[in-house]
Amino acid sequence: MKAIGRVLCATGIVAGLIAFFWKDPFIPENLSGARVLLTGASAGIGEQMAYHYARFGAEIVLTARREAVLQKVRTLSTCLQCSTKTTPHSNSCSTSPVTGYHMDMSVPYVGGLDYLVLNHIGMTHFQMWTGDVEYTRWLMQVNFFSYVALTTAALPTLEKNRGSLVIVSSLTGKIPTPFTTSYSATKFALDGFFSSLRHELIMQKRNVSVTLCILGLIDTDTALQNTRGKVHISASPAPEAALAIIRGGATRVQEVFYPWWLQQVCCLWVLFPTNRGQVLRSYYNYSSP
Ligand SMILES: NC(=O)c1ccc[n+]([C@@H]2O[C@H](COP(=O)([O-])OP(=O)(O)OC[C@H]3O[C@@H](n4cnc5c(N)ncnc54)[C@H](OP(=O)(O)O)[C@@H]3O)[C@@H](O)[C@H]2O)c1
Ligand SMILES: *[C@@H]1O[C@H](CO)[C@@H](O)[C@H](O)[C@H]1NC(C)=O
Ligand SMILES: *[C@@H]1O[C@H](CO)[C@@H](O)[C@H](O)[C@H]1NC(C)=O
Ligand SMILES: *[C@@H]1O[C@H](CO)[C@@H](O)[C@H](O)[C@H]1NC(C)=O
Repeated sequence: MKAIGRVLCATGIVAGLIAFFWKDPFIPENLSGARVLLTGASAGIGEQMAYHYARFGAEIVLTARREAVLQKVRTLSTCLQCSTKTTPHSNSCSTSPVTGYHMDMSVPYVGGLDYLVLNHIGMTHFQMWTGDVEYTRWLMQVNFFSYVALTTAALPTLEKNRGSLVIVSSLTGKIPTPFTTSYSATKFALDGFFSSLRHELIMQKRNVSVTLCILGLIDTDTALQNTRGKVHISASPAPEAALAIIRGGATRVQEVFYPWWLQQVCCLWVLFPTNRGQVLRSYYNYSSP
C-alpha cells in the first residue's frame, strides 16, 4: 500500500510540473485568414466549428444539404467575423451539396485551401442490426467514400499550402459498441484509410498533416435523440468538442480525443481484453424480450 501511495504521489508531482511548464501550442491568431472547407456545417458540431473558425478570422466554405439552415449558420458566422475586425468575406461561405452520391468534387478556392475538415455523416439509426445491407452501402458512401473523394481532390492544394486534413471520427471507430453496426464500420474505415495515408505522406515528405478526431457522446440534437434512454453515458458539450477538433488540426496532432480521457479508455480496452465487452455493455440499457 505504501509503495502505491508513493507511486501515486510521484505521479501527481510529475503531472503538476508538466501542467505548470506546459506551453499551449495552439495560437488562435494563426487561423486568421486560413482557408477552411468544412462539411456538415449546418448543425451540431460542424455548426459550432463554423462559429469558432469565424471568430478566429478564418475564411470558411461551409457545406451541407439544407440550404436554408446553412444560410442561418453562414449569417451568424459572418457577423462574428465582422465583429472580430478581420477582413469581411461577403462571399466566402458558398454552399455546395455533399451527398455522397451527387457530390461536387471540385474543391472551392482555386487560390488554395489550408484546412479540409470532414465532419458530415448520413442519417444514423441507433438500433440493433436489421439486415438492411443497402443502408450500410449508402452510409459507407456518405461517411467514408465521400471523405476519400474530397481528400483526393484537395490533396494537391493542401500540399502546396502545407495544409491539414481533419477527419471527425468517433470512439465507435476505435472500440466497437452496440447499436452502431454500420456507423462503426464507416468510422473504422476512416481510421484505416487516413492513418495509412498519414504514413505515406510522411514517407513521401509531403507536408500535409492528418488529424483523426475521436469523439465520445456529444450533446447534439441528433445524438441525444438517438441515444435517449438507451445509454448510461452523459454527453459532452458540442462547442467544446468543436474547439478540440480545431485546436488539434491547427497544432497538427495525429489524434484528438475528446473528452480527453477517451485516450485512457482506448488504452484500457487494449490492456484488458478479457472482461472489456461485459463492462462496455453495462453502459447500455437493453432488456432482451
Ligand atoms: N454527436 C455525437 O455524439 C458524436 C459522437 C462521436 C462522433 N461524432 C461525429 O461528429 C460529426 C458531427 O456529428 P453531429 O452529431 O454534429 O451530427 P449532426 O448534428 O447530425 O450534423 C450532421 C451534419 O451532416 C450533414 N448531413 C446529414 N446528412 C448528410 C448527407 N447525406 N450528406 C452530406 N451531409 C449530410 C447535416 O446537414 P444537412 O442535413 O443540411 O445536410 C449536418 O450539417 C460526425 O462525423 C459524427 O460521426 C458525433
Ligand atoms: C503563428 O503566429 C505567430 C504570431 O502570432 C507567429 O510568430 C508564428 O510564426 C505563426 N506560426 C505559424 C506556423 O504560422
Ligand atoms: C510542415 O508545415 C508546417 C506548417 O507550415 C510547419 O510548421 C512544419 O515545420 C513543416 N514540417 C516540415 C517537416 O517541413
Ligand atoms: C431503459 O429502457 C426502458 C425501455 O426500453 C425504459 O423504460 C427505461 O426508462 C430505460 N432506463 C433508463 C435508465 O433510461
